[in-house]
Formats: sequence, C-alpha cells, structure tokens
Amino acid sequence: MKKYALLGITLLGLTMHSQASIAADKLNLVCSTEQPWCDLMVAGFEEQTGIEVAMVRKSTGETLAQIRAESANPKIDVWWGGTGDPHLIAAQEGLLQPSGVDTSDLLGWAVNMSDISDGNTVGIYAGALGLAYNSELLAKNNLTAPACWKDLADAQYAGEIQVANPNSSGTAYTELATFVQLFGEDEAFSLLTDIGKNVNQYTKSGSAPSKAAARGETAISIGFMHDMVKLASSGFPLEIVAPCEGTGYEVGAVSIIDKAKNLESAKKWVEYALDPATQSRSVEVQSFQVPSNSKSSVAPESPNLETIKLIDYDFATYGSTDTRERLLSRWDAEVKDAPKN
Ligand code: F6P
Repeated sequence: MKKYALLGITLLGLTMHSQASIAADKLNLVCSTEQPWCDLMVAGFEEQTGIEVAMVRKSTGETLAQIRAESANPKIDVWWGGTGDPHLIAAQEGLLQPSGVDTSDLLGWAVNMSDISDGNTVGIYAGALGLAYNSELLAKNNLTAPACWKDLADAQYAGEIQVANPNSSGTAYTELATFVQLFGEDEAFSLLTDIGKNVNQYTKSGSAPSKAAARGETAISIGFMHDMVKLASSGFPLEIVAPCEGTGYEVGAVSIIDKAKNLESAKKWVEYALDPATQSRSVEVQSFQVPSNSKSSVAPESPNLETIKLIDYDFATYGSTDTRERLLSRWDAEVKDAPKN
C-alpha cells in the first residue's frame, strides 16, 4: 500500500514537473514588423533557447485592439515590433508589465520609451516617415514629383496616392501625429482631408502602400522610408522623398503583456530582441530600421536619421489614450470619407 502511495506521489511529481517545463518552453508572440523579419526572429530564438514560438503577424493598431479585448485572459505573451505609441498606450492602460531588461547599451530614444512607460516597453528600432513615388508611373501620367507634404493636396494626384488607415496601422497613426505636430491640429486635419481627396485606398498595413507604388498600382505612397528603401534596393522604380517641411519618426518597441502565461520565455525574448547579435541580423531580410542597441551594426542602406529634418516627436503626448482616441475620431469623421477629386 505504502509502495503504491509513493509511486503515486512520484507520478504526480513527474506530471507537475512536465507541465511546468511545457509552460516554460512556449511563447505566444505577436509580431508587428514585416513577415520575413518576424520569421527570422522566431527561427533564431527557437534555435538559441529551444523555446517553441507561436507567432502571428498583425499591424500595430490591430494588436492594441487585441490586447485590450483579451486583457482579462491574454493569449499573447510578448508583442515585438510596431510603432511605439500604441505600446505606450497599452502601458498607460495597465495592459503590459515591466521586463526588467538591462537598457544600459541602448540609444537615448529607446531608453526614452522605457522611461515614459515605467519600464513597461522599450525601443528596438527607429525609422523616419516619408513619401515615395514610382518614377515610371509618374512620367507616364505626366505628373510632377512631390517634394513636400503639402504638394500631396494638389489635384494633379487625384486617385494616385495610397496610405494606411491610422486605426489599424501604426505607420498611418505616426503620419497623423506628425501632421498635427508640424501644422497644428486644425490645419493638419484640413491638409489630411485635402490629401484624402487624392487617396485611392486606405490600407490596413502601413507598408502596403509602398509595395503598391513599387508594383505600379499607385503612383505615390506615404510610409516609413526603411520599407521604401527595401523595395528600391530590390530594383523597383521607387524614389524616396524626405518631405521639405520636416517629418516624424517611429520608435518601434517590444513589450510583455500583463498576466502573460509564459513570463520567463517572454523575458528571454526581450533580452534576445535587444541583443546586438540579434539586431544586426535584420539586414538579412532587408529590414533597414536603425537598431536601438549602440553595439548593433547599422546597415549602410538604413536612412540616416541625422541628415533627415526630423521633428521632436512627442511620444508621451501621442502615445497616450486620450490623444489617440481624439485624433482617430476626428480622422474617422473628417478624413476617411472625404469626397474625392
Ligand atoms: O515594415 C515594418 C514597419 O514599417 C515597422 O517599422 C513599423 O513599426 C511597422 O511596420 C508598422 O506597421 P503598421 O503600420 O502596419 O502597424
């Protein structure tokens, strides 16, 4: 009898042990960068740690919506990539938890994200917003090349501009916040409405418009310059413009979700994501954002943030729930369905 009881305890111990190791060996990840970089990151992490990753690619605004909806019982452990403002908003809403990662080798703009959010999110890369045009299509349609944001309101570009929807896309929210910081809120909305008259489609993902411009499906796109560089260096006839008025930029981020079920794995992911060896691999998939670790190598193709006229983007203000909700409601009411030229 005693023997059976002992066996029972041993078996119970084994079951508990294997359940614990199963839990420690998994990670549920949402990735908000380009699919090839998501895949490379997952493969590298699995190889290094043996932890099995279940990954889904989603745009930044969509991910914020999912995290909010699942706050009582989150399915995601870690959110890697995507523009920083929605990460800051998730932090402000108590949907994240600090990773405790060492930030001493990170550049100032990456540490700033951690400072604003009390360690709940941290910067992984930066990239400037810009516009691009398909030089062949522009010439074919007898259009002049745009040099400034305000040029995009010109009726010659009717049906020729594509940009993402700021509700789903962090890129387009960065554009909206950039316009407000450059021109003031009312002028920004009137300019966005005028540009909207030339817009053929508001896409879900931020990089889709530049891919469409590269393929000649639209003449002009608004998006991040690093995504445009990837397409131009792959041979597409895409010219990239840093708008004359100046432009905004993103700080992409990584965050651990509050009540994450695989917390230890999530912490390992954050360390891995900030490691210079990991960050330096982004060039393998032509992701040309500027990495956040000062020891990472920067690809020669990466747009040089020091030579672009950048605004002093106010992450604390534009990464807050109130500001985002107000700007998105105005965008829905004034810009989304503006009549077309
Ligand atoms: O291509 C990657 C990227 O431009 C990132 O730099 C950025 O954080 C992300 O896409 C934003 O994607 P979306 O606009 O779809 O949220």
